Amino acid sequence: MPTFHPIAWTRDLEVGVPEIDDEHTLLVTLYNDVVRAARQGVSCPTRDGIVRTLQAYAVFHMDREEAWMIRHAYPDAAHHRARHAEFKAVVAALRADAPDDAGHARIATLAGFLRAWILDHIRGEDRALFDWSRDDCPNPLACAAE
Ligand SMILES: [Fe+2]
Repeated sequence: MPTFHPIAWTRDLEVGVPEIDDEHTLLVTLYNDVVRAARQGVSCPTRDGIVRTLQAYAVFHMDREEAWMIRHAYPDAAHHRARHAEFKAVVAALRADAPDDAGHARIATLAGFLRAWILDHIRGEDRALFDWSRDDCPNPLACAAE
């Protein structure tokens, strides 16, 4: 039986832009919902709905970051976008191709990937992006929507 680990939101995950930190907090909450579903052994359709919610929110959030990077000519945007693409591809593949009886193994693989990716990406590419940009625009996503 695999072990599923939630993510506790800690200050080292903050990037210093309140709107982004709020979105990342929600992403972590949605990940923890996946963990809870896996632990409770909920039915496959319910579990898939929870994963689909996380997937949709992640795409929404990443699109906003990417629009901002374009607008501000962020120099490391290609690498950052590639990391987002990796996330989207792995989650889509893990959702798509396992039969129901492989669901538990699939959710364990997915949870492990998500946990490592979210922690690494927020502390790595996202922190670099918002360290670079904070002084340029104190509210990046509002600027991106102009
Ligand atoms: Fe990002």
